[in-house]
Amino acid sequence: MKGKGLRIAHISDIHVGSFHFVSNLLNRAVVEINEMEPDLVMVTGDLTNEGFRQQYSAVRAYLNNIECETMSVIPGNHDSRNVGYVHFEDFFGSRNSAVYLPGVTVVALDSSQPDLNEGRLGRQNYRWMVEKFTKPDDFKIVALHHHLLPLPGAGRERNIIEDAGDFLQLLVEQGVNLALSGHKHVPHAWRFEDFYVVNAGTVSSLRVRGYARPCYEVLDIYADRCVVTRKFPFGESVEVVSFPKETKPPSPKKSSATERLVI
Ligand SMILES: [Fe+2]
Ligand SMILES: [Fe+2]
Repeated sequence: MKGKGLRIAHISDIHVGSFHFVSNLLNRAVVEINEMEPDLVMVTGDLTNEGFRQQYSAVRAYLNNIECETMSVIPGNHDSRNVGYVHFEDFFGSRNSAVYLPGVTVVALDSSQPDLNEGRLGRQNYRWMVEKFTKPDDFKIVALHHHLLPLPGAGRERNIIEDAGDFLQLLVEQGVNLALSGHKHVPHAWRFEDFYVVNAGTVSSLRVRGYARPCYEVLDIYADRCVVTRKFPFGESVEVVSFPKETKPPSPKKSSATERLVI
């Protein structure tokens, strides 16, 4: 039940064009999401496998079946291959976006770099994000494709953004409540300082690690709590984390190395 809260469906790593992509999984997730009537659908990258225009065209057609009026889409490393970011902009618009729902601000940032698997945000994106947080009392969500923190089972660590330390510091200072990522097809949730970092798995690829299964996340944001649920297409739902919205201690003092961190 949606109740009186706001609902966000978070899907990631669709990978249209991959040998491992299963259209039935994506179509089923779309049906389930439509039944949930979310207020926003967040898609955190790797929509395509190689960034080719025909792959963008195909994934756009799948996502056109989502009935939610508000969708926020950012590219992943696979989408920026082969100069795929030009097609991303043709089919999905700006690579950064901000969505304002009642009491909730969602800022989505492009962490991909052309033809590189490694992610990076950089100070321009920091500034852009801070400027979009215009409502200090909102529940603040940030979305990016790459990991913010290392994840168990994700293999040799090369998946967090290159400037993760600086960006985590900024999220703490900005009082961000929740960060959403995708990338390595490893669903997981960490608590960091006073916010949560929730990684979605892949919604529609069988390129998974160990016992992971294709899945997506549903966020229900109520007056006093946020509840994150993992949903397996055709399968069950599992609550991942539930936390109170109002938990903002004073920001810790910056380390000497970041005293003069410029955003
Ligand atoms: Fe991926
Ligand atoms: Fe990725």
